[in-house]
Amino acid sequence: MRIIESVSGMQAAADELRASGRKIGLVPTMGYLHEGHLELMRAAAKQADVVVASIFVNPTQFGPGEDLDRYPRDFDGDVRKAGGAGVEVIFAPTAEEMYPPGFQTKVRVERVTKHLCGLSRPVHFEGVTTVVCKLFNCVKPDVAVFGEKDFQQLVVIERMVIDLNMEVRIVGVPVQREPDGLAMSSRNAYLNAEERRSALSLFKSLELARRLYNGGERDARVIRDAVIGLISSHPFTSVDYVEVCDPVSLEAVDVLKGRTLLALAVNVGRTRLIDNCTLGG
Ligand code: PAF
Repeated sequence: MRIIESVSGMQAAADELRASGRKIGLVPTMGYLHEGHLELMRAAAKQADVVVASIFVNPTQFGPGEDLDRYPRDFDGDVRKAGGAGVEVIFAPTAEEMYPPGFQTKVRVERVTKHLCGLSRPVHFEGVTTVVCKLFNCVKPDVAVFGEKDFQQLVVIERMVIDLNMEVRIVGVPVQREPDGLAMSSRNAYLNAEERRSALSLFKSLELARRLYNGGERDARVIRDAVIGLISSHPFTSVDYVEVCDPVSLEAVDVLKGRTLLALAVNVGRTRLIDNCTLGG
């Protein structure tokens, strides 16, 4: 396992790997790795000859008052877990290395960032696309793997890659869940026992939506109201959004036709959780 902290060191290592004919798979993360991340790493290992994981809590994707300061960190544990999942190189730059004095460039994807999480987290996606673009320039991956739990992030990154002619293939990996259904997330670590029980309402609401859909319901408002009703009946929950939308444009739909995305964000206590599923198609 190599741990590289500098941009120039990572670029040199990437050049060496590419010169030796090895395809590079990148898994960008903010650390505090869980089984969901490890699944991304295993998926990357199937798509590439060498897996690089980046561990960088990117300050520019957190808005004022969000959880940047308390975001969980466990670098030694991350190195151990990533090694077990086939990662050969960890790129772990500091914030100063990624954003040196004078830094002033941003990458912004316009329309697909205006929905869902983009409404309540206005600076988030600009921070994500800027750092992911920089990570691509540092690691020079042939393929990069992202989780479908952050469905909008995946859509935004796919759009950026197409629009900016980036030579990297983007692979999405399905949501990884705890045995009871809660989507894996580093932020689950914030939940106390009571909140953890209420957090399960996200998954239960997706199951309810699926049952309604399978029973023939196609009215987006009916599905949305049922999902909001179920989540709101649990203590400590406050719905940020529940949207039924097109999985490419992320624009809301009134009637479900073909593959449709049901995406939601809910505050459980002070913890903001997201989840999603697709219906139909
Ligand atoms: O999904 C994440 O953990 C982050 O948004 C990412 C892609 C690593 C960029 O900081």
